[in-house]
Amino acid sequence: MARPDWDPQHLPDLHERSYLVTGANAGLGYFSTEQLARAGAHVFMTGRHPNRLAAARRALLRRVPDASVESLLLDTSNLGSVRAAAASIRSRGGLDGLLLNAGIVHPPAQREQTQDGNELVLATNALGHYALAGALLTTLAEASGRMVWVGSLSTTISPYDPVDPQLVDTYTPWRAYVQSKIATSVLGFEADRRLREAGVAISSVVAHPGYSTSGRTPGIHGVNEPTRTKRFVDNLQAAFAQSKEHGAWPLVRALVDPDIEGGSFVGPRAGMRGRPVVAKPSRIVRSTDIADRLWHVAEEATRLRWPFTAAAKVGPA
Ligand SMILES: NC(=O)c1ccc[n+]([C@@H]2O[C@H](COP(=O)([O-])OP(=O)(O)OC[C@H]3O[C@@H](n4cnc5c(N)ncnc54)[C@H](OP(=O)(O)O)[C@@H]3O)[C@@H](O)[C@H]2O)c1
Repeated sequence: MARPDWDPQHLPDLHERSYLVTGANAGLGYFSTEQLARAGAHVFMTGRHPNRLAAARRALLRRVPDASVESLLLDTSNLGSVRAAAASIRSRGGLDGLLLNAGIVHPPAQREQTQDGNELVLATNALGHYALAGALLTTLAEASGRMVWVGSLSTTISPYDPVDPQLVDTYTPWRAYVQSKIATSVLGFEADRRLREAGVAISSVVAHPGYSTSGRTPGIHGVNEPTRTKRFVDNLQAAFAQSKEHGAWPLVRALVDPDIEGGSFVGPRAGMRGRPVVAKPSRIVRSTDIADRLWHVAEEATRLRWPFTAAAKVGPA
């Protein structure tokens, strides 16, 4: 049972723990990394662009001088990049958790395809994370670890039937975003069901950040530098929007609170903002029928089946 008095500003001691965060150079990924590092965790900060990643690491070390962080290139839209990053992590051994955060939040106007042949937004937000978590399954099992998928409140306001999951005939930028977030959440809940069924010592949790904007977020050189106009517009939404620093709270709680059970959904208390609590996910993302179909889509699109049997044989080190 999750405690009602979780304080996101006083995390448990995370020394000896290590986590990997995707999209760690900006936004929620950066602030999650910072919060984990402040609590003593070793964090693999991953991102797709070397300069942006280096700038974020420098910023983090300015703000948390004793942070233990390593940066690693990982482009979630590219399955080769995912495989390479996972191999690098496996060779180092030991991982307590994965924060599957990276995402395209402003999809392109026209449908784009990755070099692996998948629709770009689905590939970046959902498929790359499915592939990463699968490639690190045995490593996570060694630590009885946890994976956290980042969903969205937008999944509550859109119907969904995965007849065209790659949006070949039905692409719009909004549909691409919402469907990718539904897919992410559905895969996160389905992962937990499948891990339990296979007897693997890993939990899978879905979290969402409410409504978190960069204009409500502290300015950090190289990480968050909104224009004056962006600050002005975002501040008009102060009644229902929060900073990305606070938006990271549910993601971090989902990752490190030992009382959060696999299959939980964690988000801000007031929906769009607030302290992190266990919330109720939308009906669509809990559908086991959609989950079965989407899991199959992910297996086909990534040409990867999760190694449940191998992971079940691995116990805590
Ligand atoms: N902010 C919200 O209110 C909100 C609400 C619901 C859900 N979310 C989810 O929260 C996550 C983070 O959102 P955010 O608000 O922090 O967005 P953000 O500030 O735009 O940050 C997105 C991060 O993802 C990275 N990224 C994008 N494409 C990538 C790729 N192919 N490979 C690796 N990294 C990639 C970006 O890297 P670059 O800097 O290189 O582009 C950046 O680090 C997303 O999954 C989003 O859907 C956000």
